[in-house]
Amino acid sequence: GPVVALVPAAGRGVRLGEPVPKAFVELGGRSMLRRAVDGLLGSGVVDTVVVIVPDALVEAARADLPDGVLVVVGGEERADSVRAGLAAAPDAALVLVHDAARALTPPSLIARVVAELQAGRTAVVPVLPVSDTIKTVDVLGTVTGTPPRSELRAVQTPQGFDADLLRRAYRDVNGDATDDAGLVERLGEQVRTIVGEPEAFKITTPWDLALARVLLGQAGP
Ligand code: C5P
Repeated sequence: GPVVALVPAAGRGVRLGEPVPKAFVELGGRSMLRRAVDGLLGSGVVDTVVVIVPDALVEAARADLPDGVLVVVGGEERADSVRAGLAAAPDAALVLVHDAARALTPPSLIARVVAELQAGRTAVVPVLPVSDTIKTVDVLGTVTGTPPRSELRAVQTPQGFDADLLRRAYRDVNGDATDDAGLVERLGEQVRTIVGEPEAFKITTPWDLALARVLLGQAGP
């Protein structure tokens, strides 16, 4: 069945400090959203892309994206936006959930996630080792623990799922997860990791945006 990629971009993206919502920030002549979508289509393994945006940005997104990309309205929380995307793709067999902020994700990584699903895995996430030591802290900033770094991974997207499993996760699990695999984990299902790519980093802060522009070989916006 079809491989469908969801791109939830219905948040405000205030951390980047740009005047437009994060997905519409321009990076080397193309919006981050457009770059993310072009990467998915360019992987050659995605049949349909569904982009989820705020109500006010539906027309802007349609104008920015190639014909054939579905644009739907998101919800209050990220989970609501993903649910809206799933509802727009009822025939999906495999679902990728990608982040527009990972605008420089190599298409080869997207293809590797799908290959892993086609090999029979039901939940797949790209990860990289962390180089910083990571600590947990309480609300006052006092350290409460130091998880062994060797057991930690930074998680990227696209995250790939058997469509029925992801639909079940979004139906049965309440509360927030910062990623989609987190909901699948709460169902007690196994999530497999594959090796991610440095270029799939999340463009979140002005520093990240500057790095992205350097990587594209352009100094300014
Ligand atoms: O805040 P965070 O970076 O984790 O958000 C991840 C993605 O979820 C962003 O691309 C954001 O646009 C999206 N999102 C959404 N709908 C919301 C909130 C966030 O699609 N209501």
